[in-house]
Amino acid sequence: MSQNDSMNPTLQTIHARRSVRLFSGEDVYEKDVETILRAAMAAPSARNNQPWAFVVVRDRTKLNTLREQLPYAKMLDKAALAICVCGDPEHRHWVEDCSAATQNILLACQSLGLGAVWTALYPEADRAAAARTALEIPQGWEPLCLIPIGVSAQSPKERDNYDPAKVHADVW
Ligand SMILES: Cc1cc2nc3c(=O)[nH]c(=O)nc-3n(C[C@H](O)[C@H](O)[C@H](O)COP(=O)(O)O)c2cc1C
Repeated sequence: MSQNDSMNPTLQTIHARRSVRLFSGEDVYEKDVETILRAAMAAPSARNNQPWAFVVVRDRTKLNTLREQLPYAKMLDKAALAICVCGDPEHRHWVEDCSAATQNILLACQSLGLGAVWTALYPEADRAAAARTALEIPQGWEPLCLIPIGVSAQSPKERDNYDPAKVHADVW
C-alpha cells in the first residue's frame, strides 16, 4: 500500500509531483494551458498585488533558441510548450509571489497528467538576459523561470522528503 492511499487528492498531487525532464513530443490542449495559467494566478501574493505576467511559448523556433541558450533547459527539445514566469520588481515580494505562482503551475500540470520542470532564470543574469531577448520581455519586468511542459515520457518515482530533524518544536 502506498503512503498516499490515505491522502486526499490535493495531497496526492503535491506528493506525486516530480520534475519531468523527458517529454513525448505530443501536443498539449489549449484549454489545459488556460487551466494551468488560471491556477498560476490563483497563487497568494503580498498585498494581493499579483505582480506577474506569463509568456506562453509554443513556437518551435523560439523553444529551440531557448534550448540552445539555456544550459539547464535542454529538455525543451520535446516540450509542447514552455511558460516563462515574469515579475514586476517594483513589488518588493515579486520573487516570492512569482515562485508561488510557479509552484501552482507545477501542481496544476501534475493534476492534469502533464510533466513540467522549474528551470531557473533569476538570479542568473546571463540566463535571464537570454530569455529577455528571445521572448522580447520589456524592461521593467524580470523573468523568474522557464517551465517546459509536455506529455511526460518518464515517470519519476514519488519521494518522501519528510525529515523530522528539520522540525523544531516551539524553539529551535
Ligand atoms: C529555484 C529552482 C531552480 C531550478 N532550476 C532548475 C534548472 O535550471 N534545471 C532543471 O533541470 N531543474 C531545475 N530545478 C528543479 C530541481 O532540480 C528539482 O526540483 C529538485 O531536484 C527536486 O526534484 P523534484 O522536483 O523531482 O522533487 C529547479 C528548482 C527550483 C526550485
